[in-house]
Amino acid sequence: MNHITTKISVGAEKPFTLLHVSDTHLTLADGRDGERKVRLGEKRSRIFPDGMAALDEISKESKKLGAPIIHTGDIIDFVSRKNLEYAKKFIDENDVFFVAGNHEFSLYVGEAFEDEAYRNKSLARVQACFHNDIRFASRVINGVNIVGIDDSYYRFDKAQFDALKNEVRRGFPIILFMHCALYEEKLCLYNMKDKGAEAPYLTCPPDKALAGCSDYRVRQQKPDKITQEVTEYIKDQPLIKAIFTGHFHWDYDGMLTEKTPQYVTGLETIQTIEVN
Ligand SMILES: [Fe+2]
Repeated sequence: MNHITTKISVGAEKPFTLLHVSDTHLTLADGRDGERKVRLGEKRSRIFPDGMAALDEISKESKKLGAPIIHTGDIIDFVSRKNLEYAKKFIDENDVFFVAGNHEFSLYVGEAFEDEAYRNKSLARVQACFHNDIRFASRVINGVNIVGIDDSYYRFDKAQFDALKNEVRRGFPIILFMHCALYEEKLCLYNMKDKGAEAPYLTCPPDKALAGCSDYRVRQQKPDKITQEVTEYIKDQPLIKAIFTGHFHWDYDGMLTEKTPQYVTGLETIQTIEVN
């Protein structure tokens, strides 16, 4: 895997290190989930052949550095017994703070429009494999609040907004971890022009960024009111010092606002974050 080191100064009581990774996309399936899932696993493993090796390397690096792992989602490519067992083993054997991605709740990849009702079909079963709440969680390390928030369907909800405001009230500097990056123009242009994507695949794109996208992508990515409110809150909140995301499978670093950097960590990358 590629190794990137990013230093951020947020006002920690004592320096510490985090390992940020994302999008491992395990593609394991066996007969317990039926023939259709086995075939899906075979097909998807041709796209994502390295999930288990990646987790192995991440685990070794974490133990070597004595640093917790922050995984921002899509550890599995689809819900299966074998994928969930493997993910659970990784979570149980390592120090992992986990934030859900869209694939955590994919029963079959791309089979359905992904919304709250679809997520709720597998949420309890997937959540049971992880130690923290995968839709919203916080962990304070050396006076810095690590906050994970699931925006993997390009949406925030009211419960997450309330929880985020509660974390801000605690007064610690915050590093936010999410699956999808928030819209910033440069990142959107990079994704759509340089990478050739058909839509922004960012949380809270403005109408101009969605112009020309299919109705399906507009319905999927156009923000609702609460998503807009949470996004503005994140941009304006001085305690939120940096944002780390995944979802794109490539690395990027940019600025969400003049003061808030936003990073994307790719699926072949271990991002070492040195926090002070
Ligand atoms: Fe994703």
